[in-house]
Amino acid sequence: MDLRSLVPGAAGLAGVAADALVLVVAGSEAQQTLEPPLAALLAESVKAGDFELKPGRTLYVHRPAGVKAPRLVLAAAADASPKAFKTAVAAALGALKSLGVRHAAVAFAATAKEEGAAVLDDRHAEALAMAVADATYIYRHTKPSAPEGAKLQKVSLVCDKAAANTLKKSLARGQAIAEGVTLARECANRPGNHCTPTFLAEQAQALGAQFGFKVEVLGRKEVEKLGMGAFIAVAQGSEEPLRFIVLRYEGAARGTAPVVLVGKGITFDSGGISIKPAGEMDEMKFDMSGAASVLGTFRALGELSPKVNVVGLIAACENLPSGRATKPGDVLRSMSGQTIEVLNTDAEGRLVLCDALTYAERFKPAAVVDIATLTGACVIALGGQRSGLFSPDEELAGRLLQAGEAALDPAWRMPMDDEYDEALKSNFADVANVGPRGGGAITAAMFLKRFTKAFRWAHLDIAGTAWKGGAAKGATGRPVPLLTHFVLSHAR
Ligand code: BES
Ligand code: MN
Ligand code: ZN
Repeated sequence: MDLRSLVPGAAGLAGVAADALVLVVAGSEAQQTLEPPLAALLAESVKAGDFELKPGRTLYVHRPAGVKAPRLVLAAAADASPKAFKTAVAAALGALKSLGVRHAAVAFAATAKEEGAAVLDDRHAEALAMAVADATYIYRHTKPSAPEGAKLQKVSLVCDKAAANTLKKSLARGQAIAEGVTLARECANRPGNHCTPTFLAEQAQALGAQFGFKVEVLGRKEVEKLGMGAFIAVAQGSEEPLRFIVLRYEGAARGTAPVVLVGKGITFDSGGISIKPAGEMDEMKFDMSGAASVLGTFRALGELSPKVNVVGLIAACENLPSGRATKPGDVLRSMSGQTIEVLNTDAEGRLVLCDALTYAERFKPAAVVDIATLTGACVIALGGQRSGLFSPDEELAGRLLQAGEAALDPAWRMPMDDEYDEALKSNFADVANVGPRGGGAITAAMFLKRFTKAFRWAHLDIAGTAWKGGAAKGATGRPVPLLTHFVLSHAR
């Protein structure tokens, strides 16, 4: 997709040359910011009851009088915020979907909150890039018959001359993040028989080759040697070989402590011997979405080349029942030395993550963030809007929350009181892998916390946000935007 900023000439918006002009309108005073043909058109369509200034509403106008662009789409935004702008752009692109539009120019009519403040800033530009990528993404790998998408090839953001340069940079950042999101979606949408641990490792290696990252892939033998007894216990029920993937992005000086991102990469989670019910079990192919978000974030890093060091760790395997599978009651020895009683083989994410977290110690990290579709309980708690954020570290938690807000990929902080840890007591090991049903997302985080003594740490439970079910079933690519913003906040 070609994304650029466009400064209108003397004729203003009415003179913009594009196949379609998308005019996002926020608030009833927005009309005052428009020149005659468009101001009149907006006023008349509102008066006639054809266009309401309610979020989500759009109006298509063919060959509008006095306007150079042969098509006009009015799209109402709830307010002048980047979030409302993004929603309105998405609705407008939806209205253009089946038309022959190759080049759309997007303009924003709104009055600034404060006198002199810019209506359109870098966050709007970034949001536009994300909305365009979202509207044009189509999954094809195992469905080549998927209908042709929109013809859209180029999107311009109409802006002042003074803002053009900064907005251009923000469009590029938005596009880099969008490419990361798309990679994450492409990986996560692939079925479990295509997206295996080996496939994830190949994706990492391909990224490494494309952008010059160091990529290391460990197999069963190396992982055994490291003493990752918890990871192996999950993998051993499957014929599909496990992979432990290490990516390194080196944008800062050698000695600079890296940010470490740890992704849960269960390429299919049947539950193991504690097998899941059949309904919707197919969605457990998405149980590698944490891993996909690490790959997606590295993709964005490759495009943006920030001055920061980042390590990506992915623990990838399947969780299946078999004659070799781990059983309830089995006791494992983790890489940290702590023993774990497996009370439920379906609580496998924390088992692969705990060994990956111990492995992270060797990088002397500035911070470690793990990303995992960890608990159904988190879906119950937060639904699909916000990812669950868990961290005993105020500063780190604040930084992640802020990154989520800025990226329009929000999280919500959950509690981690010490008392929650008591649920994980075991008579046969240092820790049990599950607690009672209540507070399940929190006890999962408390389990992980036991393996994070050596560094500052946060955990993102993305079970509700990484994919959508139902008719729109598919990966969202979240939380690549949050993670990219977070990593960029560490750049010099
Ligand atoms: N991958 C699942 C979590 C999950 C479930 C994500 C449903 C999205 C939708 C995870 O491995 C799991 O099975 N967790 C169990 C933990 C329980 C056994 C303590 C769960 O949430 O039921
Ligand atoms: Mn599970
Ligand atoms: Zn799982």
